[in-house]
Amino acid sequence: MFVYSIFMTRYSMLELPILQEKKSESALPSMQDLSHQPKLYVETYGCQMNVNDTEIVQGVMNDRGYAMTDKPELADVILLNTCAIRDNAEKKIHERLNHLKYYKKRKKELVVGILGCMAERLRETLLEKELVDLVVGPDEYRSVPELISKAYSGERGIAVKLSRVETYDDILPFRTEGISAWVSIMRGCDKFCTYCVVPFTRGRERSRAFASIVDEAKSLFDQGFKEITLLGQNVNSYRDEQSGHNFAELLDACAKAVPEMRIRYTTSHPQDMSDQLIETMAMHPNICKYIHLPVQSGSNRVLSLMNRTHPVEHYYERIEMIKKLMPDCALSTDIITGFPTETEEDHEATMELMRKVRYDGAYMFKYSPRERTKAWKMGDDIPDEVKVRRLNEIINQQNVIAREINQTLIGKTEHILVEGPSKKNPMEWQGRTDSNKVAIFPQNEHAPYVIGDIIPVIIEKASSATLFGRLT
Ligand code: 5AD
Ligand code: SF4
Repeated sequence: MFVYSIFMTRYSMLELPILQEKKSESALPSMQDLSHQPKLYVETYGCQMNVNDTEIVQGVMNDRGYAMTDKPELADVILLNTCAIRDNAEKKIHERLNHLKYYKKRKKELVVGILGCMAERLRETLLEKELVDLVVGPDEYRSVPELISKAYSGERGIAVKLSRVETYDDILPFRTEGISAWVSIMRGCDKFCTYCVVPFTRGRERSRAFASIVDEAKSLFDQGFKEITLLGQNVNSYRDEQSGHNFAELLDACAKAVPEMRIRYTTSHPQDMSDQLIETMAMHPNICKYIHLPVQSGSNRVLSLMNRTHPVEHYYERIEMIKKLMPDCALSTDIITGFPTETEEDHEATMELMRKVRYDGAYMFKYSPRERTKAWKMGDDIPDEVKVRRLNEIINQQNVIAREINQTLIGKTEHILVEGPSKKNPMEWQGRTDSNKVAIFPQNEHAPYVIGDIIPVIIEKASSATLFGRLT
């Protein structure tokens, strides 16, 4: 389903990558005079789509005179933009809501709202929580200001209708960081994989207008952004209603419109990974050579139960085509262990697929049954300890493969987009390769680069998740 900004192998099983169940708080400009405006604080959980949706909600609220804050204790309104993909994502939100009670005790007039996939899934039941004033699904963000106004006068509200047309095409997302920007190009999903709640929480597929996306890319370049990621649950089924343009054509137009920007996209479905799309990627040096192509399982029996709509042979054939046209293209995937009825043989087929494809990174999950999905009715027959053991086996194997791949880069020069100080050591900085790998390199006051530069770095050391190098 979705691609992530950091490869999974960096994370322990409990510490999930940005797309999955991570919480992120909006980084905000420090120079703003926030004193007279009402203040909004948003916490974002889940995928990049939610990160961009938060920027849309912030854009809507900013238009209504709200200032953003990254301090919940200063906020007049706290919104949680939530994820429902697995049960543990929802558990986190319940815990967070319990904690937010203390803020409301201290500030009686505080407004608390739940947005996103969990709002869509649980609807009015969330209003049973005394704390919650508004519940808003992914297609109703235009109604957030009105629901907040009502909440000030004590009226609690819900807006969870899904739309066939809403793309927020005309809303300017509230972006604060100047290197990388998310640009959503389509919403919803029509694939109905049997384990997945997304078609129920985000509704039917619909695409944004072609010209407006290309214009947004140009405007982001003019604002100084260096990289854009085109976003959608299933970007390669993008289709512009008016012109009939497909995703490969959109990617081509963006690559030409902003030739100095790096362009990424996420996420794609193997069924819609066309030759034209692979050829377009190969043709443009500014389209990053990195593809997140979720496979979920290496067993045809399980793929069919999952309604993935293709056999594993189709997947291998697509990988072959990618490697033929772009030998250096990095690949990552999503895998689920313990899907209903998964046998040891099915699990071994997944292990074998991973050894054959040799992914640079993988996001690996234990199956979590979700109400309303087809798989919900298949039961959840794989015991948790078996799911965990299989998950550990694929994680361990993936770590070995990723380390081997990364070590082949030692001695080579990679072009790194400088992001800023590394999280572990401020004397070092971090950036990202074209292939989306994190690279760490030394920084001091004499260093001849600034955030946003693309610099050549010689790789000297590599782990399964990180490259370490020095300037050439
Ligand atoms: N249980 C476990 N993992 C899931 N995913 C989606 N639904 C479930 C579920 N019910 C995973 C898939 C998808 C990724 C975003 O999350 O691997 O590609
Ligand atoms: Fe991705 Fe399948 Fe879920 Fe659609 S239904 S979002 S393709 S996992």
